Amino acid sequence: MRLLTGIQPSGDLHIGNYFGSILPMISSQDEHEIFAFIANYHAMSSGVGGARLAELTMQAATDFLALGMNPNKSTFWVQSDVKEVLELYWILSAFTPMGLLERAHSYKDKMAKGIAANHNLFSYPVLMAADILLYNSEIVPVGKDQIQHVEIARDIAIRFNNMYGDIFVIPEYKVDENVKTVPGIDGAKMSKSYGNTINIFGEEKKQQKVIKKIVTENVALEEPKEYENCNVYNIAKLYLNEQECLDLQERYKKGGEGHGHFKLYLAEILWEYYRPYREKREYYNAHQDEVRDILRIGADKARTSALPLIEKIREATGISY
Ligand code: ADP
Ligand code: TRP
Repeated sequence: MRLLTGIQPSGDLHIGNYFGSILPMISSQDEHEIFAFIANYHAMSSGVGGARLAELTMQAATDFLALGMNPNKSTFWVQSDVKEVLELYWILSAFTPMGLLERAHSYKDKMAKGIAANHNLFSYPVLMAADILLYNSEIVPVGKDQIQHVEIARDIAIRFNNMYGDIFVIPEYKVDENVKTVPGIDGAKMSKSYGNTINIFGEEKKQQKVIKKIVTENVALEEPKEYENCNVYNIAKLYLNEQECLDLQERYKKGGEGHGHFKLYLAEILWEYYRPYREKREYYNAHQDEVRDILRIGADKARTSALPLIEKIREATGISY
């Protein structure tokens, strides 16, 4: 089964991203054929550009490699390195009614917030459809906010196929209900936009400082404490096995330790868990040429797999003459 996913290069990754999307993708590399790319064209629609976009693109690639993206198993590249996607984007736009895009949440939400929309933002779902369709993707694992975009891709593909025959695979989205929503340091969903994140990579002291800010209830040191609704416990348990969870529960129930102790413990768990990834990231940060090579090989692989289809499309649409 071929799974395709696009990753926006949007800066520091947090542990919500890790459990919500990175880990499920990385751990399915043995089972599925993964096509994963850094969506740098898409990032333009959020106003990122210039040297910052280039930097974010390399950082995202470095982080994903460090976290276990395996370029020997999966196809991993930067969106803009396969220009055929732009050609397909244009062709697909001829099969995209205006109304379909006018109903897109990403566009409607930004309009509602008073953000002046340009065509780049408006046509974002068409580019996403091109991403998905160009690589014959069968499954697109997404968060709930992206379902509509996959539906738009399906809609466009069906319109095209109605005209020219069964050229596109009709993709399906997959929302993984088992994926946990990671709470932020204030207990709400962890998200960059809420400023309540714990980053995967960062300095140890900074990370400890953030963890110290996790909101907890006020209970005297010697008193037993609730663990079920404790933000510290709920984050820690993502990293613990069953026995370790039970041990931590005991410490809560026994009293004699404050939330400060549990926070310290959490900081240690996180630091240890990401140690090998941090080391790999340091390596790749010091060897950016190697990262560039991996991306170039990935783009070649992606393009090679896309070429027969794009030829067929040029043929069918009369672009080839
Ligand atoms: P943010 O909310 O920080 O802007 P993004 O929207 O860039 O995060 O999300 C990137 C990916 O990480 C998505 O697949 C999303 O579902 C996942 N994700 C983000 N925050 C969480 C969270 N708190 N718990 C689980 N998954 C999350
Ligand atoms: N729009 C997606 C997001 O914001 C990123 C993305 C771009 C994508 N192209 C894609 C995701 C194709 C899946 C398939 O997260």
